[in-house]
Amino acid sequence: MGFKKDFLWGGATAANQCEGAIDVDGRGLANVDVVPLGKDRLPIITGKMKHLAFDEEHFYPAKVGIDFYHRYKEDIALFAEMGFKTFRLSIAWSRIFPNGDETTPNEEGLKFYEEMFKECKKYGIEPLVTITHFDCPIHLIKEYGGWRNKKMVEFYQNLVTAIAKRYKGLVKYWLTFNEINMILHAPFMGAGIVFEEGENEEEVKYQAAHHELVASAEATRILHEVDPENKVGCMMAAGDYYAYECKPEDVFESMKENRHNLSLIDIQARGYYPNYLLKEFEQKGLNIEITEEDKKVLKAHTVDFISFSYYASRVARAEKEELTAGNIFESVKNPHLEASEWGWQIDPLGFRITLNTLWDRYQKPLFVVENGLGAVDTPDENGYVADDYRIDYMARHIEAMRDAVEKDGVELWGYTSWGCIDLVSAGTGEMKKRYGFIYVDRDNEGNGTLARSKKKSFYWYKNVIATNGEDVAMPEI
Ligand code: BG6
Repeated sequence: MGFKKDFLWGGATAANQCEGAIDVDGRGLANVDVVPLGKDRLPIITGKMKHLAFDEEHFYPAKVGIDFYHRYKEDIALFAEMGFKTFRLSIAWSRIFPNGDETTPNEEGLKFYEEMFKECKKYGIEPLVTITHFDCPIHLIKEYGGWRNKKMVEFYQNLVTAIAKRYKGLVKYWLTFNEINMILHAPFMGAGIVFEEGENEEEVKYQAAHHELVASAEATRILHEVDPENKVGCMMAAGDYYAYECKPEDVFESMKENRHNLSLIDIQARGYYPNYLLKEFEQKGLNIEITEEDKKVLKAHTVDFISFSYYASRVARAEKEELTAGNIFESVKNPHLEASEWGWQIDPLGFRITLNTLWDRYQKPLFVVENGLGAVDTPDENGYVADDYRIDYMARHIEAMRDAVEKDGVELWGYTSWGCIDLVSAGTGEMKKRYGFIYVDRDNEGNGTLARSKKKSFYWYKNVIATNGEDVAMPEI
């Protein structure tokens, strides 16, 4: 009953949101570095505003992040203290290939992650590695236009070959692209797309997505060839759409939204384009170049497991009304749900529903690689945060996840909560939108000592892991 004995409990981060040290040890500049805090962030990440360098007028949170680059040993020791079985992190592409189109990797970059993986292993922590978490070397954007160009597939394969060989035996679990469906909403992040005036944006996004899909299939091939023990997963921003009302028009709208969100995962999991998407291309007159060779690659190298982030469910309505936020996706407000301080709707049962949807649809093992509550924390003079709101959110989600496993029979490999240590928000660039069990002393403007301290949820999660998810109540501390 409950979670399997070897269930992988842990936490997740991304290089660009925590490492900092963007110009050390040969690292090249990346799209994620030049995305600032403030009102220009959204037009930049959605590809509407060209901004490929630093300037004086903006603040760039990724420059320092939480300085994980220099402090990872201290942080991994804290993860180990919580009992982590796995740690999800991402590789910064421009540490390994600073420009992206070199043929020889940067040794210092390779060494950095090798040491980090060894540090994990020291504590029996299994690394779970996202190959690309929204990052793309800036040179590839300037020179090739990012993922709109098919040459990116080749550069990505070079990256995958270098890391697959170097980390053989150290890393077994891999994710090819973080939230691949995010390309349809924020194409500068993840795909390095900046739109040119007058072009068909949807066509550009789907063409870039196609290149990523082919690259993902090639990565799966390479990783399996280098080590048959490797397990390769896709990764999506999940969260089912509900129909606002039971009238057929709303139900139809929710079906369309769900398909839109699942379309790229359908391809990674099944190995071919679904008819509904091909029909959509046809009806909208989108000309996407998909070769016969591409089709073969997609078919031959499907993923081993499906991973996803879940923060909120969403609502679809035939007549659009008031919209609410939710991880770049805007959705109709659900009158039955409360929302976070950032307007993301809180829905633990929706988590169970989403787990069931994905399991039913793909019949491949699932891995929850992001979940959590972004909230404002107020530490006391010792840096201690009594984050009962976070504990409440996570306890309810873990219970719902347990129901999906225990009562519904969903096959689930693990759970990594998002931002297990406070880090920079991807959506807003803020530090004050915190997810961690570990508080980091740094604010939106870059003030603070970067000191780490344990929140109340640190002790709570430690007990959750120790009881393999059976006890989600707050223990005595
Ligand atoms: C996911 C991303 O979209 O959500 C993370 O994979 C991101 O990178 C997380 O940080 C939470 O979003 P935000 O905007 O609160 O940081």
